[in-house]
Amino acid sequence: MIKQPLDRFNRLDLLGQPTPLEKLERLSTWLGRDIYLKRDDLTPLAMGGNKLRKLEYLAADALAQGADTLITAGALQSNHVRQTAALAARLGLGCVALLENPLGTDDSNYTGNGNRLLLDLFDTKVELVDNLDNADEQLAALAVRLRSNGKKPYLVPIGGSNALGALGYVRAGLELAEQIKDTGLQFAAVVLASGSAGTHSGLALALSEVLPQLPVIGVTVSRSEEDQRPKVQGLAERTADLLGVKLPENFKVQLWDEYFGPRYGEPNAGTLAAVKLLASQEGVLLDPVYTGKAMAGLLDGIGRQRFDDGPIIFLHTGGAPALFAYKDFL
Ligand SMILES: Cc1ncc(COP(=O)(O)O)c(C=O)c1O
Repeated sequence: MIKQPLDRFNRLDLLGQPTPLEKLERLSTWLGRDIYLKRDDLTPLAMGGNKLRKLEYLAADALAQGADTLITAGALQSNHVRQTAALAARLGLGCVALLENPLGTDDSNYTGNGNRLLLDLFDTKVELVDNLDNADEQLAALAVRLRSNGKKPYLVPIGGSNALGALGYVRAGLELAEQIKDTGLQFAAVVLASGSAGTHSGLALALSEVLPQLPVIGVTVSRSEEDQRPKVQGLAERTADLLGVKLPENFKVQLWDEYFGPRYGEPNAGTLAAVKLLASQEGVLLDPVYTGKAMAGLLDGIGRQRFDDGPIIFLHTGGAPALFAYKDFL
């Protein structure tokens, strides 16, 4: 059982309630297939998103270590950096973020609006870097620099995706399994965006134990299946190790990689159509980098009959603040 070892870890309760699992009535009618959203876009900090679940564990660790500054890294429009910075503000900690511009654009919406705008409101100290090709080392070097200035930095990895952060999605998987059982329905799959992989690894780990027949499908947002698979698998193994359990027999990494092109951070026509569809049919805001691509995969998967029968759950991981940065694409 995963729940007992999970409960031994220190966690800041930042979520309060489980996030809702709700049916999208109009979209379901339109598609002829029932679609449910797990609303992790509604987590209660600074416009929501999946990172708060990881930060419940990471920030508890930071406080236990006596840190006074959270340091992390990401794209200029990173939702992860926004949520980390907001939490630092809430906890009275400093925040330093290394940011890259993966699109190489000087569009002022991308460089100054959306998530990036919010960082200034949280008093984040931003350092622009050419790229984050060696993010772990770049963050380690930043930590050394801050320590030499008398600070006590805590390193939050890109996407919050180490084993400790992934515990947030182990917990989310157990929460979702309870909600699924309450519906009495047999779902065909859970679909989500798979990026730095903590969300996918944690969720798949938990669900493979408690609902072993339910496929968990990660739609990649930046990599081919070949490149993403070892990331998800490796992190799931490290997360199981941290919990002191074996990976459940039914644990399986399922990835769809046809929807992330042309590259990370750049939406394609399918992404934009998915964003528009959810907005116009349901008043639900997806984002152009993660959930738009994942939803495009879900919609195409229905069209191509890639799912078994039954309703489908989409894990809405947030990201809508980035819409304002992508004005020129939309
Ligand atoms: C909105 C949104 N969805 C999905 C993801 C992907 O989650 P992960 O990095 O855990 O794979 C992210 C990561 O930044 C995100 O911001």
